Amino acid sequence: AELLAQYGGVAPKQAEEAHSRVIDKVVQDALDRANLTEKDLSAVAVTIGPGLGLCLRVGVQKARRVAGAFNLPIVGVHHMEAHALVARLVEQDLSFPFMALLISGGHNIIVLAHKLGQYTQLGTTVDDAIGEAFDKTAKWLGLDLRRSGGPAVEELALEGDSKSVMFNVPMKNHKDCNFSFAGLKTQVRLAIEARKIDAKCPVSSATREDRRNRADIAASFQRVAVLHLEEKCERAIDWALKLEPSIKHMVVSGGVASNQYVRSRLNNIVENKNLKLVCPPPSLCTDNGVMVAWTGLEHFRVGRFDPPPPAIEPDDYVYDLRPRWPLGEEYAQGRSEARSLRTARVHPSLTSIIRAADSLQQQTQT
Ligand code: KG4
Ligand code: ZN
Repeated sequence: AELLAQYGGVAPKQAEEAHSRVIDKVVQDALDRANLTEKDLSAVAVTIGPGLGLCLRVGVQKARRVAGAFNLPIVGVHHMEAHALVARLVEQDLSFPFMALLISGGHNIIVLAHKLGQYTQLGTTVDDAIGEAFDKTAKWLGLDLRRSGGPAVEELALEGDSKSVMFNVPMKNHKDCNFSFAGLKTQVRLAIEARKIDAKCPVSSATREDRRNRADIAASFQRVAVLHLEEKCERAIDWALKLEPSIKHMVVSGGVASNQYVRSRLNNIVENKNLKLVCPPPSLCTDNGVMVAWTGLEHFRVGRFDPPPPAIEPDDYVYDLRPRWPLGEEYAQGRSEARSLRTARVHPSLTSIIRAADSLQQQTQT
């Protein structure tokens, strides 16, 4: 929390160092709190992507050390699949197929989950994720970033008039399910500059009028950002129901799904389409270990895991890390020109890897 506030967001190098400093203690605390030791475990699940390579490495190294020392199989987990599947831990009737809108700091995707490990991506962001827009808005408004920007914007928005600043809803003319938040971010920055709001002056010491201005921007930004989600979700539900008419649920998860305004607005959309919204509690929406353990368990149960690593790993061992790793296969009708995907090396999607492995298995059985 202090690092987030100090650097105004996630600084990769400092994040890696912080991960390295605490990883042993975090794992030990989790075992202690569960009243278990490593000997009681049946497998180790660990996030292998997508995310910051430096931080993924710290986790994978630790997981392989534990698994190697106690001869445990290891399950590599997709971070976004974990955000979606943790909903099945809290909602027992949530069976496949279902839809999921996954909204966090780095990702903004809407998928159709056919079965475990198989996803069709109906939409993604062409630039920033909504969480990034919340974080920057918080930073520019001089809010307390210790809990990340989102909760601070949500709280201040309660004091503001959400119709006072007229931001444009992004991508009104695109008849697809893709998202864009970069333009809205710029609109917010310009509105802040026009009102001469000084981010260096914390909102706690702002004058009444200044605070009111900041709250109006927070509320107006939140309304329009969420309206964008609402419009795209409505269309995505129509598309998904054509592909899989038996869908009954829409999951909304990822850090931004802990926002109460997001939850209530999306609930209206989902109920209008006769589906049920499933939102994990906020503690399971923002990044957490439970979702990774749960997703590991789901794959472990169907035999998808790697054998235990050697107790002593060679020094030159190359870790399987996937910083850019799509979850699903893109739906042809919804192809996006996602900037991040065009510029960097992308790993084949989880869905394509699992499909290839399953068909290989079928071939060897016949
Ligand atoms: O899923 P998450 O914990 O980490 C990533 O995988 O990115 O999501 C973090 C993001 C941050 O951008 C944070 O500002 C946002 O989720 N967030 C929120 C709220 N709580 C967290 N955004 C809006 N309202 C919230 N209450
Ligand atoms: Zn996340």
